Amino acid sequence: MATVLETMKITPLSAACGAEISGVDLTQELTPATVAAIRQAWNDHIVLVFRGQKITQEQQLRFASYFGNLGRRKNAMFRQELQQRTHGTKQTDPNVLLVSNIKENGEPIGAFGEGEMWFHIDSGYAEKPYNYTFLYALELPSTGGNTQFSNMYKAYDALPAKLKSELAGKKALHIHEYERSAKVEVKEDLSQTAHYFHPVFSTHAETGRKSLFVDRLMTARIEGYSKDENEVLLEQLYEVGERPEFIYEHKWQLDDFVMWDNRCAIHARTWFPPEERRLLRRCAIEGAPIHE
Ligand SMILES: [Fe+2]
Repeated sequence: MATVLETMKITPLSAACGAEISGVDLTQELTPATVAAIRQAWNDHIVLVFRGQKITQEQQLRFASYFGNLGRRKNAMFRQELQQRTHGTKQTDPNVLLVSNIKENGEPIGAFGEGEMWFHIDSGYAEKPYNYTFLYALELPSTGGNTQFSNMYKAYDALPAKLKSELAGKKALHIHEYERSAKVEVKEDLSQTAHYFHPVFSTHAETGRKSLFVDRLMTARIEGYSKDENEVLLEQLYEVGERPEFIYEHKWQLDDFVMWDNRCAIHARTWFPPEERRLLRRCAIEGAPIHE
């Protein structure tokens, strides 16, 4: 009988990033050699897509655990209104977050509601942002709600040399204070808001490659610049980070399992009809401090 390693096939999905992996059944335990092959594909392609998987929550968590320690929902440590963002009545495991607009008896069953969501890094406001995120599609709207992934290695490589040297060694403030698709005015007093200063450029612990580590949703400012200077600088960085040629847009099918490396990709959600149900099951792997 052929082994998983022999049946596993890797098919790139775009010139930007992303690859589909076929020939692997995620309901089954995998050998260290298969896990190593998936990790290698992950480092090569940033986003991996497995189609037609019928996985339970337990199987999803077991598979994710091959890649590190599961990350708990980051909802316990901050004030009430921010806790609400990740609150959901159907979340039965502290390591699982349901991404959904569904309400039952007037209460959200998961987090992040409806509508478009700007490009972001999952838990980028934390000292140790998640290394990896895994998302599994359980219910989908008839249109939209796609996930766009941008390759931040390519963004870094494409920055003008002058900007790279100007921002080398600089840090940016990432905050957990956002509307899903609008700018917020950042308060002076951040004592009640989850936030962290990360290097603008990050070096990946495994690939050794540099990437741009800012995003439109949660990066508030770069240290050492005025408000006006920041507006110009950040917009320049976002323009490069969100160039269409660096983006793979994933159109979800039921039973898709998608996993991405949060250290070298930003992701966004496109609009979908709010009256239609959308439900995805997320888990993540704990990360480490970001180093330039
Ligand atoms: Fe996200």
